[in-house]
Parts: sequence; structure tokens; C-alpha cells
Amino acid sequence: MTFSSPSASDVQGAAEASKTRTAIAGVPIGELVRQFGTPMFVYDAATIAQRIASLACFDVVRYAQKACSNIAVLDLCRRNGALVDATSAGEIHRARLAGFSPVGDPPPIVYTADIFDRDSLDLVAAQRLHVNCGSADMIDQLAERVPCPRVTIRINPGFGHGHSRKTNTGGEQSKHGIWHEELDQTLARAAARGAVVTGVHVHIGSGSDLEHLGEVCGAVERLALRVGDQVTTISAGGGLPVAYRRGDASMDVEAYFALWDATRRRLQKAFGHPVRLEIEPGRYLVAESGYLVAEVRAIKRMGGNLFYLLDAGFNNLARPVMYGAYHPMALAPVEAGLTRALQEVVVGGPLCESGDIFTQGEGGVVRHEMLPQASVGDHVVIEIAGAYGFAMSSNYNSKPLAAEVLVRGGTPYLIRARQSLDDLVRGEEIPALG
Ligand code: LLP
Repeated sequence: MTFSSPSASDVQGAAEASKTRTAIAGVPIGELVRQFGTPMFVYDAATIAQRIASLACFDVVRYAQKACSNIAVLDLCRRNGALVDATSAGEIHRARLAGFSPVGDPPPIVYTADIFDRDSLDLVAAQRLHVNCGSADMIDQLAERVPCPRVTIRINPGFGHGHSRKTNTGGEQSKHGIWHEELDQTLARAAARGAVVTGVHVHIGSGSDLEHLGEVCGAVERLALRVGDQVTTISAGGGLPVAYRRGDASMDVEAYFALWDATRRRLQKAFGHPVRLEIEPGRYLVAESGYLVAEVRAIKRMGGNLFYLLDAGFNNLARPVMYGAYHPMALAPVEAGLTRALQEVVVGGPLCESGDIFTQGEGGVVRHEMLPQASVGDHVVIEIAGAYGFAMSSNYNSKPLAAEVLVRGGTPYLIRARQSLDDLVRGEEIPALG
């Protein structure tokens, strides 16, 4: 079934003031729920395509698929010209299923991690994938399997920044990358193994800001000069911020690119050959495309707090409980057209755990959200949920993983069926104890 394409206000979401929403990417929410049930993630393909296009000034947009790795989303990214990053054997498998070739120039798939587990090393070696090494041990292990590999290295520049301490990936407290002061010995170790370091990559954290991201340019320039003129690629990593709250600054891509392009040009001059500039965003490409749709199953008061309890919990969206992350919300009432007063509510899920609250700040402090008066059976739409939403979901409390739906050109496609109860116990066995 195809629905008319969304209006600008519809894409932005909700009638802002009334905190209600009737459609996602032009498809009525009632229709989505009838077809696919709840809880359900819905992604708007047009938003993802637009975000990729907005980064076209970079030579390579490499999607960090850890943000949302459904193979239909990967396929969409590939069709829109993005390449892909993989951080596990599973992510390599997904990239291949979505049509990315193993090798090419630039490499369609890059394995970026701090270790190889045995499965990922086997896959990388068998498919000759490009590796961005976050530890010297990875270089050794790869060189044992692939003669004279050409690798890039992820360097921890000694500083980092993220929206939470847990998403800061630089500095001494971080396990990520090769410590900047160990660069020379890493290069010597690589040379002894016959490995050639062709690029430098730095990713200081997720959900950072332009000021901190800008500092990375200087670090990459200094580090690339130390590696020398075999460098043909630099990567700015990911970390581009997204405006979760109204009033948050949105990303100034032009200014960001200008910083990186100047760095790249100086390196080209120093080396006397072209240097490819990559960017590796996850959140920026998919966060705003995604919505978690859940049904209100109970409404109850606890003293001064009014709770809306949904059929989705931190098994579906872990960002609030993990980081105190904020997500905007809207009500999708079953009975449209009524005027509903806004009220302060706490929004929670079904799990047997007090932390199963979507409206919480850092440290688990419960906060309130203004939402319209609701009835059991109405739906709540949790917005900007496309990045690290489904990707971080779990089967806690034996809850099946949610359905995922992609809306393209007004048509909703089921891209992952909701897990069944049998899916939940697949692989489990009761030993015959006699
Ligand atoms: N590149 C590397 C090497 C990374 O480790 C990451 C994210 C990215 C790129 C993409 O970062 P992004 O553009 O999405 O910020 N679960 C957390 C975010 C963890 C990010 C992990 N690595 C959250 O929900 O905020």
C-alpha cells in the first residue's frame, strides 16, 4: 500500500505544540500498527538518503553500521553511495548480504576494531578485507594470515569527547585505538611484519560537538606526517552530533568539511600525492530517520507521578537507561480529533526493573515529559530512535525483538519480522538427565 509523500511538518514530526503525531513518513500510524503491530521501529528512507547526500563533499561516506545494521538499511546506504564499516564477523556478514563487495578501491568494507576475535580474523583473511587496526596485536595477527597487508591504523590521540563518559573514546581511560605515544614502535612492529600503514583514522567519541571534533584535524595531521608519505587515506571517524532536543545546534557540515579539507590539502602538499578523506558516521545518518512506536498498556498514578506504561522498554531502546539520553516523544491517539490537554507524565516500559523508564536523566533520575492525555490503546512514538535503538536491543525478560519497517516512497516494507516465542528459545536444549 502506498501513501502520499510526507509534508515537511510530518517529517519533522508531530504537531509540535500538541505533541501528537498521526503519521510517519506519510504513512498513518494506525495503518503501520495494523500491519506490523507494536513495539515496532519505523525508518524513513528519505531521511537516510538526504543525510548521506549532505556529506557528499567527503570522498567517502563510510556508514558505521553499529548504529542500525538491518540489511535493508545497509542496502539503502549502498544504493545511495555510502560504503560501510564493520566491527565484527556479524557486521561483515551483514555488509556482504547487503551487496557490498569485499575488495575495491576505496575498500567497500573496512573492518575497524581493537581486536580480532577468531571468527572475524578468519573472515577478514578469507575475503581479503581492508582492516583499520586499533591495536598492534591486530597488525601481527593479520600479517600472519595475509602476506604484507596494507592497513590503516586507528590512533587514540590522547583526548576524546562524547555525549556521555561512556561514549568518549579517546584519552587514557579509553581502550580504543593505538596510543599516540606508541605510534613509532607500532610502525616499527608493522614494518618488521611487512605490513604497510596506508592511513590514519581517529574517532574521539560519539555525540561530540564541532569544537572537539575540530581538534581531531590537528592531531590527524601531526600523526599522518609521522607515519609518512605512504599515507593515502585519512579518516575523520564518526561522532557527528544530532539535535535530539529542540534548540540543540544542528551539524554545520560545510564548516566541518572545510576544516578537514584544509588538513587533507596540507598533507597532500607534504606528501606530493592525493590523500583520500573519509568520514564514518553512524548516528548522523540514521538517528532522525527512526521512530519507536509502542502501545500504551496501562496508565497509573504513584503519588505525584502519572505513569504511561508502554509495551516497549529498555529491551527495545536502551539509550535512556544507559546514558540518561533524551528522546522526544509524541502521542498517536487512536481517536483523532479530540483536544487533549498536555500533562506531565513519566513514560516507562514493561520490564521488571525500576530503571525501565524512557524519561530519565543521567544517573537514573526520573524526569517528566509533557504529553497529551492518553487512554490505554493509544500509541506513543519515541523519536530520533534510529541510531543505537534496535541495534542495542535485547531479549531481557524474554521479550521478542521488535519488528522493523522501512518506509520508501510512501510504502512501508517489513524489513525484520518481530521475533516469535519460538525464536526466543532457538538453540536452547534441556539435557536428557534420565
Ligand atoms: N567509528 C567508530 C570507530 C566508532 O566506534 C563509532 C561509534 C562510530 C564510528 C560512529 O559514531 P557515531 O557517528 O554514531 O557517533 N551507543 C551509543 C553510541 C556508541 C558509539 C560507538 N561507536 C549511543 O547510543 O549514543
